[in-house]
Amino acid sequence: MEIVICSTADEAGEVAAARVAQVASQKEGPAVLGVATGSSPLALYRHLAARVQRGDLDLSGASAFALDEYVGLPASDPQSYASIINETVTVPLGLDPARVHVPQGSAEDLRQACEDYEAAIKAAGGVNVQILGIGSNGHIGFNEPTSSLASRTRIKTLNEQTRRDNARFFPTLDDVPQHCLTQGLGTIMDARAVVLVAQGEGKADAIAGLVEGPVSAMCPGSVLQLHRTVTVVIDEAAAAKLTLRDYYAHTYAHKPAWQRFAD
Ligand code: F6R
Repeated sequence: MEIVICSTADEAGEVAAARVAQVASQKEGPAVLGVATGSSPLALYRHLAARVQRGDLDLSGASAFALDEYVGLPASDPQSYASIINETVTVPLGLDPARVHVPQGSAEDLRQACEDYEAAIKAAGGVNVQILGIGSNGHIGFNEPTSSLASRTRIKTLNEQTRRDNARFFPTLDDVPQHCLTQGLGTIMDARAVVLVAQGEGKADAIAGLVEGPVSAMCPGSVLQLHRTVTVVIDEAAAAKLTLRDYYAHTYAHKPAWQRFAD
């Protein structure tokens, strides 16, 4: 796991975008992106869009798979992840909407929708680079604490802390859905590379658990310790509880030129 600590949240977005662009460009043929919603990846998407606009990155044939969707919100609802992915990813990156996939949280048969989603990721050849945020309780996707480390796309009940964290996007806490469809931890682990971003002191415990804690379903993000190609890009506040903080900074500062993905 590579840990990159940046002085500001915007710089973290820039560095993370550089890493995503590097992996996306390494692929022969169009890239398959795994995309997250939430506040954490917004700076990353902005910097990725700037690369596309400058002509430094071509995502015209790329496809994308979102991590999750609320159950019961129609795709047309402004708070549905279908709407948010369209606004923050599809439009700014110039992706073809027909190639951008979000779990069908309003499907009549939710179990079938989950199976279909797994099949669609497989049919696309798998995700090349998965962009992740992390919840304050350590969740990735909506894999809440005690999720199976081998889980696949399925229905989950949102943890109360997650509902409270996300209440800022809804009129009241009661409007936050109770259920979601989410890619499983096993699904996320199949991505060839992972780029996780986090900012702010509210994420410091989750980042410490992810990077340095035991691999445990109590901190679902810690499963990434078993992945071969993970880049964690965080600001100083999110890095505050890392025991080996100085070592990560030293390692990044002394990276050999051939390993670099950002200046
Ligand atoms: C979003 C997702 C979640 C968020 C996490 C952090 O698709 O799957 O895991 O990444 O809840 O949310 P923010 O970035 O809003 O703090």
